Amino acid sequence: MTSPIEGFSKLTKAEKIEWITSNYTNNSTASKQTLAQYCNSDVILQKLHDEFIENTITNYYLPLGVAPNFLINNKLYAIPMAIEESSVVAAASKAAKFWLSRGGFKASVIGTEKIGQVHFMYEGDVKKLQGFIDSLQPRFRKDTANITANMEKRGGGITGIELRNKTAALKNYYQLHCTFETLDAMGANFINSCLEQFANTLKEQAVRYESFSDTEKRIEVVMSILSNYVPNCIVRAEVECPVASLNDDPSVDPNVFAEKMVRAVAIAKAEPFRAVTHNKGIMNGIDAVVLATGNDFRAIEAGVHAYASKDGKYSSLTHAEVTNGIFKFWIELPLALGTVGGLTSLHPLAKLTLEILQKPTAVELMQIVAVAGLAQNFAAVRSLVTTGIQQGHMKMHLLNILNQLNATEAEKKVLVNHFKTNTVTHSAVVAAFEQLQNAK
Ligand code: MEV
Repeated sequence: MTSPIEGFSKLTKAEKIEWITSNYTNNSTASKQTLAQYCNSDVILQKLHDEFIENTITNYYLPLGVAPNFLINNKLYAIPMAIEESSVVAAASKAAKFWLSRGGFKASVIGTEKIGQVHFMYEGDVKKLQGFIDSLQPRFRKDTANITANMEKRGGGITGIELRNKTAALKNYYQLHCTFETLDAMGANFINSCLEQFANTLKEQAVRYESFSDTEKRIEVVMSILSNYVPNCIVRAEVECPVASLNDDPSVDPNVFAEKMVRAVAIAKAEPFRAVTHNKGIMNGIDAVVLATGNDFRAIEAGVHAYASKDGKYSSLTHAEVTNGIFKFWIELPLALGTVGGLTSLHPLAKLTLEILQKPTAVELMQIVAVAGLAQNFAAVRSLVTTGIQQGHMKMHLLNILNQLNATEAEKKVLVNHFKTNTVTHSAVVAAFEQLQNAK
C-alpha cells in the first residue's frame, strides 16, 4: 500500500507526476506519456491552466461543438457546447433547425436577484434584535462602500439586507438574508466579500449596542456565504406554433404528436423518477453552454434542481400545452450566470465562445442557455415519444465503440456504412469489426 505524502503541493509538477504515476498506475512510463499528450506545448497557455487550480498534472479535455441555426428573439446564434456525450450537439442542432422555420425561440429574463446569507446565533429578545439590525442598515452600507463602489457605478450593488428569524427550524438561529444585483458578473466574490463584512459589522456593533444584555451582545456568526438557490434570478424561454405545422415527418399525425409531447411533459411533472431524467436531458444542453462559456456548472446544477423542487415535489422544468390549436412548449429556471470576471475573462476558449455568442450580457446569456435547455428537452422528448432514443444514440455511439476498438479510418468508413442499414449494438459492432479484420 502507498504511504501518505507530506508536502505534495510543494513538489514540482514533474515530481508530482513521478509520484502519482509510480505509486498509483501500473505503467508509469505509459501514464506519463498520456499526461504529456494532454499538456499544451505553449508554455504560457499551459501555465495559465496550471494556475486555475492546485496540483495540476495535465489538462482534461472535453470536445467543444457548435449547434448552429438558433433563432432567439429574432437574432441568429451558433451555440458553443462543451460536452462529452454523443447526440447532444446533434439533437440541439436538429431542434434549432426545426424551430427556425417556425418563428424561432422567444426568451425573457424575469429577474436577476442574487442571494447571500450571514448565518448567526442569537439568544435573547427578537424585537431588540430587529431594532438592532434596523439601526445597522446605514452602517452595513458604509462598511462595504469600498467593496460596492465599482458595482454601484455600473448600476448594481446591495439591494436588501433583512433579518430572518429561523428559530422555528433551529434554536437561536437567525440570518441576514441579503440580496444583490451583480449585472454582468456572476458575482460570487463580490457577494461573499460583502457578506463577510456584514458579519464583522454585526459582531462588532452587537458588543456596543446598549439595549442588548451581555448574553444578547454575544452574537455568534456561524458562516457567511452566497446561496446558489436563486429563485428570483429567473429566465423563461418558449416556442410555439400551430399544431398543424408541428411535425415535418409525414408518417406522424401532428395532433397525435402534440398530444404525446404534452403527455410526456405531464408525466415528468407527476413522477419524480421521470422528472429527474427529463431534467437531466435539459441539463445536457444547459451545462454544455455554461461550461463552454466559463461559468460554474455546479452552481447552476444545484440551483436548478432546488428550483425543480420548489413546490414540495421534484418536477419538470419544462411545460407544454395545446390551446386553440397552438402547441406551446416552455421552460422557466434560475440561472446565475456571468459574462465578465472569473474564468469568462481568463480562459481563452471561454473568451472565444462568448465572442461566437456575439459578446452577450449576462441577461442575454441567460436567455441563450435557457433556450439550449429547452431545445435539448424538445429533441429528447420528441425522440422518446416517436422513434425512441436508442436509434439515433447508437449511431452516434458507433464511432465511440470503433475508437475503443482502435479501428483505422478506413475500417470506420466501411463499418459506418454497414451500420446505416444494420442495428447498432455493442456486440454487433465488435462482431462486424472482427469479421472485417479476419477478411483481410
Ligand atoms: C440522456 O442523456 C438524456 C435523456 O435521457 C433525456 C430524457 O430522457 O428526456 C434522453
